[in-house]
Amino acid sequence: MIDVHNLVFSYPKQPKPTLKGLNFRIEEGEIFGFLGPSGAGKSTTQKILIGLLKGYQGEVSILNRDARDWGTEIYSEVGVGFELPNHFSQLTGIENLKLFSSLYRKKTRDPMELLELVGIADAAEQRVKNYSKGMAMRLNFVRALLHDPRLLFLDEPTAGLDPANARNLKDIILEQKRARKTIFLTTHNMHDADELCDRVAFLVDGEIKLIDAPRSLRLAKGQKQVRVEYTIDETQHQETFDLRGLRNNQEFMKILETDTLQTIHSQEATLEDVFIRTTGRSLQ
Ligand SMILES: Nc1ncnc2c1ncn2[C@@H]1O[C@H](COP(=O)(O)OP(=O)(O)O)[C@@H](O)[C@H]1O
Ligand SMILES: [Mg+2]
Repeated sequence: MIDVHNLVFSYPKQPKPTLKGLNFRIEEGEIFGFLGPSGAGKSTTQKILIGLLKGYQGEVSILNRDARDWGTEIYSEVGVGFELPNHFSQLTGIENLKLFSSLYRKKTRDPMELLELVGIADAAEQRVKNYSKGMAMRLNFVRALLHDPRLLFLDEPTAGLDPANARNLKDIILEQKRARKTIFLTTHNMHDADELCDRVAFLVDGEIKLIDAPRSLRLAKGQKQVRVEYTIDETQHQETFDLRGLRNNQEFMKILETDTLQTIHSQEATLEDVFIRTTGRSLQ
């Protein structure tokens, strides 16, 4: 669905390239995540893929066609959720969706149903300028689904949403995957990346440090640990031990032998642990 080779991009007047030779492929039906801290180049990459930014070097192919050859007709094939919502603020929510519907040749989804899907049906008749940031984000998200595209670009779709709405959005994204859609998702949220993505690319300073499935990364690169809580003379202690070699860990065995153990939990590495270990950078 997407094939990127040695993608280099510089903004005018910037001394250094923002993207320094990216390589990746995205297969049909895959949720592919771009995970990286703010400023890494995630939104820039998305803008190149959807044809908004030209003047890049390297090869970018979208739906088997060179990105340079795509015109605005690409928008009938792909759905785009921008990082910052760009609505017609004087129009209502439903008017915004109807306006965008009218741009497509094919039949589009029912705007009211889409508003219901993300819990803003009650605000359908309100002008978007009166929407909260979260409402505008949710409108932005369903606008990308209007024409039921087979390829979706979602730039930080859950940023700034409360947990319930973020959950709902993630469920909708997973439903899209079940419908065999392909999704390019950028995020700095490791929980979202871990839960949603088949594969993630770690992006730092315009470079991809690695690409793999979140689970494989956690298992291969994470250090498993065991956290125990125990009491000595009625005071509570807690300690963390490496899972590997536990049997020969004297300190741990002593806690077992003295029968003071209260709780014991194994802890997997999080995707953020792996990110930090691999890139030397945090996601924040
Ligand atoms: N229009 C622009 N002009 C110049 N520099 C830009 C522009 N947009 C983004 N940048 C710079 O490019 C880098 C990557 O930005 P961006 O792609 O938005 O990162 P991310 O989405 O990962 O936070 C940042 O250093 C940012 O300041
Ligand atoms: Mg961004």
